[in-house]
Amino acid sequence: MKKWINLFVVLALMVLVISISVVGAPKTWVVGFSQIGAESEWRNANTFSVQHAIGEDPTLLLVFSDAQQKQENQIKALRSFIARKVDCIAFTALVETGYGPVLEEAKRAGIPVIMIDRDVAKEDRHLRLTIMGSDFVEEGKKAANWLADYLKKKGLDDGKKQINIVELQGTVGSAPAIERKKGFEEAMKTHPNWKIVRSQTGNFPRSEGKAVMEAFLKAEKNINVLYAHNDDMAIGAIQAIQEAGLKPGEDIIIIGVDAVKGAFAEIMAGRMNCTVECSPLL
Ligand code: AHR
Repeated sequence: MKKWINLFVVLALMVLVISISVVGAPKTWVVGFSQIGAESEWRNANTFSVQHAIGEDPTLLLVFSDAQQKQENQIKALRSFIARKVDCIAFTALVETGYGPVLEEAKRAGIPVIMIDRDVAKEDRHLRLTIMGSDFVEEGKKAANWLADYLKKKGLDDGKKQINIVELQGTVGSAPAIERKKGFEEAMKTHPNWKIVRSQTGNFPRSEGKAVMEAFLKAEKNINVLYAHNDDMAIGAIQAIQEAGLKPGEDIIIIGVDAVKGAFAEIMAGRMNCTVECSPLL
């Protein structure tokens, strides 16, 4: 009798184990994430945020791809996610345009696409499910409004004397470059004596911010303000300004966007005046 009871217990346990593994095991959802690169402190924090969020959820599996600032690499990665039949695609659009066909392919394959940080162009937005990102236009406005308050507080703007601004733009065609420019220029409309005397792309990394600022300093004798579309370019520009024998933060007012640690170090040292927050923790 005891033998039969033991056999029954063993069989019952086997049935339990099999049914847990077949019915109760949580499904693993595969997420393909295409990041654009590692051009800034902000970007590295954003990559960490996505990897960490997906990594801590046992029901998710991340397939990560770094496009190294090339749209063709990114489109290749998206196509490989589709071929692999991932459950969801997440990506940051390097630039706004050029993703229509691959988004159509994802839609046809029934794979939802979530944008992280940078969106695609308006005409392609019906092809993606949603976006986790920031209001870049608002960030540009905040930068200009901060400048207005600061100039007023310091008695540096009488509303007549021209305020010369140089602008370091982000990657040409990217949502933050387009929208941070737009927001700043919109807010500038109430300050007719402010003038953007030079505006060029520095593509977002520090090295290019420095190189473009060097060119601005050679071309313009009287620069009052630098508006950089991100902190890394502002930090690069600060080096260029110092090397030109000027005092960043005093001779030239420095404004960046992102609020990364490096910018706070510059602000504490008096070399930078303002950074507009843009959270990478998406
Ligand atoms: O898209 C967000 C921007 O991209 C950040 O401001 C910048 O630092 C990054 O490279």
